[in-house]
Amino acid sequence: MKIIKINTILVLGSGVMGHGIAQIFAQHGYSVRLVDTDKAMLDRALDLIKGSLEVLAEEGVIEEKSITGTIGRIEMTTDLEGAAKGIDMVIEAVPEVEDIKKKVYARLNDICDSDVIFATNTSGLDVFSFAGVSNPSRLLATHFFAPAQLIPLVEVCPGPETDPHITNTVVTMLQNMGKEPVVLKGFVPSFIVNRIQNYIAMSVFEILNNGWATPEQIDRAVKASLGVRLPIVGVVQTMDFTGLDLVNDIMKSKGMTMPIIDDKVKDNRLGVKTSRGFYDYKGKSEKEICKTRDQYYLKMIGHLRTIDAFKPI
Ligand SMILES: NC(=O)c1ccc[n+]([C@@H]2O[C@H](COP(=O)([O-])OP(=O)(O)OC[C@H]3O[C@@H](n4cnc5c(N)ncnc54)[C@H](O)[C@@H]3O)[C@@H](O)[C@H]2O)c1
Repeated sequence: MKIIKINTILVLGSGVMGHGIAQIFAQHGYSVRLVDTDKAMLDRALDLIKGSLEVLAEEGVIEEKSITGTIGRIEMTTDLEGAAKGIDMVIEAVPEVEDIKKKVYARLNDICDSDVIFATNTSGLDVFSFAGVSNPSRLLATHFFAPAQLIPLVEVCPGPETDPHITNTVVTMLQNMGKEPVVLKGFVPSFIVNRIQNYIAMSVFEILNNGWATPEQIDRAVKASLGVRLPIVGVVQTMDFTGLDLVNDIMKSKGMTMPIIDDKVKDNRLGVKTSRGFYDYKGKSEKEICKTRDQYYLKMIGHLRTIDAFKPI
């Protein structure tokens, strides 16, 4: 199997996402070419990258003396063709507009070697269906979360023709940079997190439109509950703690049946209380499982209070 070496990365689009993506790769020693059609955006990107690196140094995450080297590894330009020479990978972070992305892939296809990896940072467009690149086995999605230099998750999504070796290489690279890639089986609009977030947004709009709560009340309520629990138990395991029998009853009271829950309840997989639910707790008692959970929750609550997180920034 051919070893894929990734040393030089072209980040296309230097906006909210592109500048952070460029920064994190430069921090990890990659040679980065940050390309934008708008010079003013590149200037802004440089300013934001400098600010971010200064915060990282102040917080002891990086050494201050590394900042110059990191910035030196990012070449900023509006000359796409020149920047595309000798690159191993492109990460595309241009606006979420199909027509813009389509034109960008047509151009990249023309100017890049056929083995250059193309990764789209799309929030959920099916780039695979319209990119039209000559060698689609090198096209995949790497969906970073803002600020890309900090948030660990990258949703990695292969397209129908992506070479698994390329997906694995990209995943390993991200892991080596301290990222937490989650690889989807295949494309689904909005991937995982934005799909969930879209439902949250719809509920928030409903509450605000009806005047049921203020923005401050909503954020305080969410931060002081889900904000504590989600980092520890996520959105699925939390149901194991609720009890899948209760989740099932709630769904039924709304006139819905979820076979994925109903089947587990019929099989006495009620969650933590029966030591099996979505997760298998390997015979551990409810008391034991709750003890671990509570230790984590206490640490989380203590930390959130230390930084006064329940108040708005
Ligand atoms: N903003 C977020 O929180 C977020 C999170 C995850 C993914 N995304 C996705 O990342 C992509 C970029 O989003 P963003 O928020 O960074 O957008 P943005 O508008 O902040 O930045 C886009 C940049 O692309 C540049 N650009 C436009 N056309 C170009 C071209 N042909 N060639 C080179 N540069 C070009 C613009 O000048 C701009 O600087 C989108 O697909 C978006 O859905 C955004």
